[in-house]
Amino acid sequence: MTGGLVALLVTRSMPEVIGSDEITPQIWVQLQRASVDRHHEWRTPVLASIGLDGAVQARTVVLRRVDIEAKRLLFYTDRRSPKVLELKANPAATLVFWSRRLSWQVRAQVNTQILDAGPLVDSAWDSVVQSPSAGDYLSSAPPGAALHATPDNSAAPTPPVARETPAGLEGSQPPVLHRGTHHLAVVCADVLSIDWLELSRAGHRRALLTTGAPQWLVP
Ligand SMILES: Cc1cc2nc3c(=O)[nH]c(=O)nc-3n(C[C@H](O)[C@H](O)[C@H](O)COP(=O)(O)O)c2cc1C
Repeated sequence: MTGGLVALLVTRSMPEVIGSDEITPQIWVQLQRASVDRHHEWRTPVLASIGLDGAVQARTVVLRRVDIEAKRLLFYTDRRSPKVLELKANPAATLVFWSRRLSWQVRAQVNTQILDAGPLVDSAWDSVVQSPSAGDYLSSAPPGAALHATPDNSAAPTPPVARETPAGLEGSQPPVLHRGTHHLAVVCADVLSIDWLELSRAGHRRALLTTGAPQWLVP
């Protein structure tokens, strides 16, 4: 990259312009931070996949863990949710992250694997069991199941009882939930490539990041 172009890329939101060698490492640093910082804008990416009917499906998820060495992103979900069936049938998916602070969009092409038992699931459950989100994995009805309509269909639906704070979580006592009672599954997303876009008043930059040097693209 020429010195002139570097000078052009100084932006309001990015105090430093990073060199091409630093883009991939910095993306992973930010992903790692997002997995432990609930205020990081990359904490809640959109996961897009192919539905069983061939239509595109997309939803927000929480980035729970990052394994930089393995280039792997982990999410938690209910193993009965439609996305689990979809991803088992077609593991290819895309994760979209946007950060206003960084002025960076990341579109990660991933290959997914669903884990619904084993040490990683046990460890994931242990990490959420004492948090309010434990209730998300304890519902007796699967995500997306229809709620019973009221006679005049005018009242707002009542959440399923089991979606409320689960027994053992509302007080100061330790919860009395067991690993066998939950429906938590771990989505492992192995990153195959990243389409990185940096927005800047001085000129946008875009690169396809796989192995080796970035492939610069027209933004
Ligand atoms: C901020 C936010 C975070 C969410 N995090 C998750 C998550 O980590 N895992 C999950 O399965 N659903 C999460 N959801 C709910 C999903 O977006 C989606 O509504 C639900 O999982 C059903 O998706 P599906 O029908 O495609 O399976 C989240 C929603 C929001 C708004």
